[in-house]
Amino acid sequence: MDHSADCLVGREAETATLKELATSASSGVGQATFVLGEPGMGKTAVLGLAASMAQRAGMRVLHGAAQEPEQRFPFALMSACLGVDAASSDESRARVAEVLRGDARYGLPGAQGTSAGAVDFATAEAMLGLVEELCAQGPLALLLDDLQWADPASLLVLQRLVRGAQQLPLLVVGAYRPVPQAGDVDRLSQRLGLRDQLMLHLAPLSSPAVLALLADLCGGEPGPRLRNMAEGAAGNPLYVRE
Ligand SMILES: Nc1ncnc2c1ncn2[C@@H]1O[C@H](COP(=O)(O)OP(=O)(O)OP(=O)(O)O)[C@@H](O)[C@H]1O
Ligand SMILES: [Mg+2]
Repeated sequence: MDHSADCLVGREAETATLKELATSASSGVGQATFVLGEPGMGKTAVLGLAASMAQRAGMRVLHGAAQEPEQRFPFALMSACLGVDAASSDESRARVAEVLRGDARYGLPGAQGTSAGAVDFATAEAMLGLVEELCAQGPLALLLDDLQWADPASLLVLQRLVRGAQQLPLLVVGAYRPVPQAGDVDRLSQRLGLRDQLMLHLAPLSSPAVLALLADLCGGEPGPRLRNMAEGAAGNPLYVRE
């Protein structure tokens, strides 16, 4: 994340919710939430808030962002978030990478008899096991950005983490653009039947928040011309900045 959560304006309700969720998760009752909003509305910024709340609650924070070109690679997002890498000095992570590599060998000579479903299952289980192992070391926050581009295998792991979170000291926060066609992840959040208060729909910034952002940006009280221009941004922090 390229900005400090401390220089954000507004988002008081989201901050309070994330603080509550982090407190609960760090005490052993895991929580999950999704942050939704149009491009530039501040989803990544709110994940930054989640990171500070989690850190303050004594949690270890792991972060991953889905990349559009990697949507075709099974488990790309979860591997990135959990640091699953064959070269990892951490034995557990290296072991999961091996299971995943078995996955990648599927379809090549020597892999006969292994169905795609079976290897996917093994990899998902290994990843869930890794999360449990990390949770046994201390409370853990997993922050997943740009889920509209997530690979389907990672979304399945995410679904199981969200379902099982309550039993672990685990905070899961995912962010995505709901339109156009977030597809798999939108269906996922619906299927999970998350309670409404656990979906953080980012509204446009309020007028006082926009003024505070302008004051931050120009280092003083903004003039009438600038305030007029900012009105055109309709509370979208990216447009206000621009
Ligand atoms: N509450 C805020 N206060 C101040 N600046 C903000 C706030 N929210 C977002 N910003 C700034 O606005 C810009 C856009 O925010 P951000 O990148 O979080 O949007 P996003 O919803 O993640 O967009 P995208 O859908 O493109 O990923 C960033 O420069 C960010 O720092
Ligand atoms: Mg973003």
